[in-house]
Amino acid sequence: MIVGVPKEVKDNEARVGVTPAGVMALVEAGHTVLVETQAGVQSGFQDSEYQDAGAEIVGEAGYVWGKSDLVVKVKEPIEGEYVYFREGLVLFTYLHLAPVPDLTDRLLAAKVTGIAYETVRDRQGTLPLLTPMSEVAGRMSIQVGATYLEKERGGSGILLGGVPGVLPAQVCIVGGGIVGSNAARIALGMGARVTVVDSNLKRLRELDEVFNGRIHTLASNSYNLSQATQEADLVIGGVLIPGSTAPKLVTRRMVSEMKSGAVIVDVAIDQGGCVETARPTSHSNPSYIVDGVVHYCVTNMPGAVPHTSTLALTNATFPYLLRIANRGAREALRQDAGLAEGLNTWLGMLTHRGVAESQQRQWTAVADAIA
Ligand SMILES: NC(=O)c1ccc[n+]([C@@H]2O[C@H](COP(=O)([O-])OP(=O)(O)OC[C@H]3O[C@@H](n4cnc5c(N)ncnc54)[C@H](O)[C@@H]3O)[C@@H](O)[C@H]2O)c1
Repeated sequence: MIVGVPKEVKDNEARVGVTPAGVMALVEAGHTVLVETQAGVQSGFQDSEYQDAGAEIVGEAGYVWGKSDLVVKVKEPIEGEYVYFREGLVLFTYLHLAPVPDLTDRLLAAKVTGIAYETVRDRQGTLPLLTPMSEVAGRMSIQVGATYLEKERGGSGILLGGVPGVLPAQVCIVGGGIVGSNAARIALGMGARVTVVDSNLKRLRELDEVFNGRIHTLASNSYNLSQATQEADLVIGGVLIPGSTAPKLVTRRMVSEMKSGAVIVDVAIDQGGCVETARPTSHSNPSYIVDGVVHYCVTNMPGAVPHTSTLALTNATFPYLLRIANRGAREALRQDAGLAEGLNTWLGMLTHRGVAESQQRQWTAVADAIA
């Protein structure tokens, strides 16, 4: 197969889909790898390293997309990339289709095979290709939140960890999954008081155990959320219903009742956000204020720490990539039910239930689509 690695074009997105180590393994398996020039440079990988690993360096994105059977990216394609869609192309990347009907339309119209990192499952039923980026974003959310709590950034001027004699900040984490537990870990490490709100009581028990009682846990309902957000200096949104648009759990009214200068980091914004007042922002213009509350809603937070993120992401994606390249998409999907859950579009059919329900569209089960 010809595997293509274009340079990311999303605002301030500095990650890359394959590292030189991945190129070497693909080439050893008999594949040709086209890497767009400078694709890895912001993650710390020079063209020469890709070349030494066996890749062909290509000057133009159009050539990479046009020549490759399988294109590997990090973020969902943006509008300027839609022209590269064509029948027969296999696209392996984050797609986050639920809140983007336009991208869904274009993938379906061009009959692209779209395999989305964020809906692939492993044998335990977890989301192995979302996990590493959720770890990064969860940990980052607290350092970002701490920065926006500074007066100069519009925040209330509270130091997350406090000092002896002064109470630390109160952090409310909505959703205690990968993002939430990583956020909790860093917030605790910085000395904050932490409450995690989740609808899954089993998960809350696990967190209580893991953190040895040092965090508070709270069952998710409007009443509890309303109280917890009113008390919070920093709210982290980390709710996920896989493949679907995130539920707006923190309502506009709750935001209006929060402290002035409090900060919301809605990490779940890539699935539409779990805060009603959240709208997607970018690294070049990351924040805005509603009712005196600072909102940070960058859809590709890990892009700010590309070195760590690229290595963490490709550690997880590469084994799947190699299987798709070696077996072809249809066979790889047939042989791995978890990978098949990653299939979102196939020959003009929408194949992911969550995406279909979020967009109120028809869908076809993967097994029927690829039969
Ligand atoms: N913005 C970014 O750059 C970025 C980066 C990585 C991940 N994310 C996003 O962060 C979100 C969370 O990802 P994750 O890996 O932590 O998911 P996860 O599945 O590990 O955790 C989600 C948690 O939400 C909880 N939840 C579901 N419904 C709830 C409700 N009604 N009330 C409270 N909790 C509820 C679940 O029980 C679960 O514990 C996803 O949307 C993911 O795409 C964003």
